[in-house]
Amino acid sequence: MAKIQILVGSVGGRAGQTAKAVSYVLSYQGHQVRLNESPTPQDLLQDADEVLLVCCSTTGEGELPPLLYPLFYALDDQRVNLTGRRYGVIALGDSGYKHFAQAGYMLENALYAAGAKRVGEICTLDARKVENHPLAAAQWANAWVMELDEPQKVVSC
Ligand SMILES: Cc1cc2nc3c(=O)[nH]c(=O)nc-3n(C[C@H](O)[C@H](O)[C@H](O)COP(=O)(O)O)c2cc1C
Repeated sequence: MAKIQILVGSVGGRAGQTAKAVSYVLSYQGHQVRLNESPTPQDLLQDADEVLLVCCSTTGEGELPPLLYPLFYALDDQRVNLTGRRYGVIALGDSGYKHFAQAGYMLENALYAAGAKRVGEICTLDARKVENHPLAAAQWANAWVMELDEPQKVVSC
């Protein structure tokens, strides 16, 4: 069973609801899940065994939810060393905007810069196409969590 910290970044609440559904599904399977709705850089380092799972929306013109900026800068500046750690990304967005799901991609790049390794494909949830974000993310997470034990498999959503 895995230890997973879900790092939430939401403006209107949808990413928060989505993260809760993912947390519920993974906990039900017996994984140890920490749902963190106001993640700080320090939270990343509390437990080296934790897999990190970002669940965030994009706001403004391709911007992160404001609460996530301290985390993003700490990663991007490589003030946090996540060598050996693994992560996944659920990126909410709307393809009607120019910078679709950019916040998720920014965090993906920053986690990579900090030395962590992504598991699975990024799960992008487009508000124009996805009717039920929590359900779509929970289905993706079911496959994603299995890949934690099978690194060669590719999981997309
Ligand atoms: C003011 C505003 C700006 C947004 N800007 C973007 C954007 O640049 N790119 C994108 O993909 N989605 C953008 N979105 C869409 C949101 O990311 C999407 O609706 C998401 O599901 C909202 O999740 P949340 O309720 O957790 O914030 C924007 C939404 C709003 C309201």
